[in-house]
Amino acid sequence: MSEVRKLWQDEAIYQIYPRSFCDSNGDGVGDIPGIISKLDYLKDLGVKIIWLSPVYESPLDDMGYDISDYRKIRPELGTMEDMDRLIKEAGERGLKIVMDLVVNHTSDEHEWFLKSKDPASPYHDYYIWRKGRKNNKKPPNNWTSMFVGSAWTYVPEVGEWYLHLYGEKQPDLNWHNPKVYEEVKGIVEFWLNKGIYGFRCDVINQIYKTSLEDGKGISPSGRGMEHYLNQPGNHEILRRLHEEVFAARGDSLMLGETFNVDYENGRKFQENKELDIFFIFDHMMVDKSYNPLAKPKFSVEKFMKILYDWQAHCPMMANYLENHDQRRSISRFGDPKNHRVESGKMLALLNLTLRGTPFVYEGQEIGMIDMPREEHHDEFEDVAAKRIYSLMKKFKVFSDSYIEKFVNHLNRDHARLPVQWDDSPNAGFSPEGVKTWLPVNPDYKEVNVKVQEKDPDSLLNYYKALLHYRSESDTLRMGDFVPMQLKGPVYAFSRNFKGKRTTTLINFSNQEQPLPGEIKTVSGELLFSNYGRKAVEEPSVLKPFECFLIVAK
Ligand code: NOJ
Repeated sequence: MSEVRKLWQDEAIYQIYPRSFCDSNGDGVGDIPGIISKLDYLKDLGVKIIWLSPVYESPLDDMGYDISDYRKIRPELGTMEDMDRLIKEAGERGLKIVMDLVVNHTSDEHEWFLKSKDPASPYHDYYIWRKGRKNNKKPPNNWTSMFVGSAWTYVPEVGEWYLHLYGEKQPDLNWHNPKVYEEVKGIVEFWLNKGIYGFRCDVINQIYKTSLEDGKGISPSGRGMEHYLNQPGNHEILRRLHEEVFAARGDSLMLGETFNVDYENGRKFQENKELDIFFIFDHMMVDKSYNPLAKPKFSVEKFMKILYDWQAHCPMMANYLENHDQRRSISRFGDPKNHRVESGKMLALLNLTLRGTPFVYEGQEIGMIDMPREEHHDEFEDVAAKRIYSLMKKFKVFSDSYIEKFVNHLNRDHARLPVQWDDSPNAGFSPEGVKTWLPVNPDYKEVNVKVQEKDPDSLLNYYKALLHYRSESDTLRMGDFVPMQLKGPVYAFSRNFKGKRTTTLINFSNQEQPLPGEIKTVSGELLFSNYGRKAVEEPSVLKPFECFLIVAK
């Protein structure tokens, strides 16, 4: 008997960053009632699963990825009743809710951490407290935080240091302690019992620290990761959680955010039933580094090779080009000035026709782009940007303009600007006159949902049509992945299922390119052209970022 398919195997997932999605009460911050008010929009768009970045109580040092109570809703976003209503109203529209599970660390304001400061308390062992070196004057090891700087902070009243792989307000949990597992299991069950569909598990391949020995190298961020990335103990925790909690629930989702995972570990996640799908970072690192001395440049060849290699190695990928941690994809990989819509469509076609579960990040469907340089507010909200900014300033070797450019390149605020709903002041995100928590991109008058809903050629309508098409296409949902050997920057691949085939073609450049002869031999109907092309034969030149899909029945 064939296995019953799960919703996530067939449908796209839409990510909401709640602070930036829709503000219903005019405080400048998005909220849960705001999300409820847009459920019809999301249904119409054609997604079936909504992943919410953290909505729990938090002092917001890392914008909710620092949780102080996993069973409470952050008041700025609404109440538990609002959350229950969201789950119910989404369900009535056939939409499922996925929550963020952040359990590598908690907030330092979580009661477990507050209690852990007493060495005699059982909570002391919930975290990784150690005496330092050199008479307790130096951190216990040389690890650096993912957000640069030491991964340890000293607390005088405790007389010990605690480990934090992220900001100092995000102490790491000690997963060697079985009580931590039981606590997390309880939290997961609490939310699943409320009717949510599953979890996106934050930095989930880093939770188990095998040893606290010094790390190799001199990296300003993530030094020491060989002791905690993808460790056997980590795999075992995930396998157990999946087996004890998720397996019995049938259709549900355990999605991992997994930094630096190789094919072997990726295979283990899925074959051992630890994670259903997982995010890779490799393609996102092509043009990015937290090391101020590194100058990575975007290379289409590297980017596409990474995607193709993962497609070949892993039958079910979590495909994404944007999220709340990444700059906007059109600004990064497309051409926001001259080919915003065309490059947006090309990126959409790529992301939605690869093999795997596609993710769309709020605002991606209307082609939101990064904050323009001249609009820079001098205070970052992003804790990572703040940390790297002050570290670079401290070294006194980088010019201000270099620092500004460097931090701008990885500033996560770009992705968190309010969603642009219409052309009214504050873009319909917040009422007029309200100061929004991050500025609205000044292009909102031309780029917004309302304008694009009316335009049949808009990026929004392209996404909508493609998402609906994908939902109905066995080939795109279940087909294999076969790359066509073409000369970059033109790429093509086909998906094949029971004798049917779709072929995706993209010109991943802002220049015209010759139409490869091989494509002319592919038979079928041409769909989803971003230049109104009806057939492959003529013209034989591909326009900048041109893309289309050929469907053979
Ligand atoms: C990954 C999350 O996506 C990011 O926003 C957060 O800062 C880190 N994990 C730490 O939780």
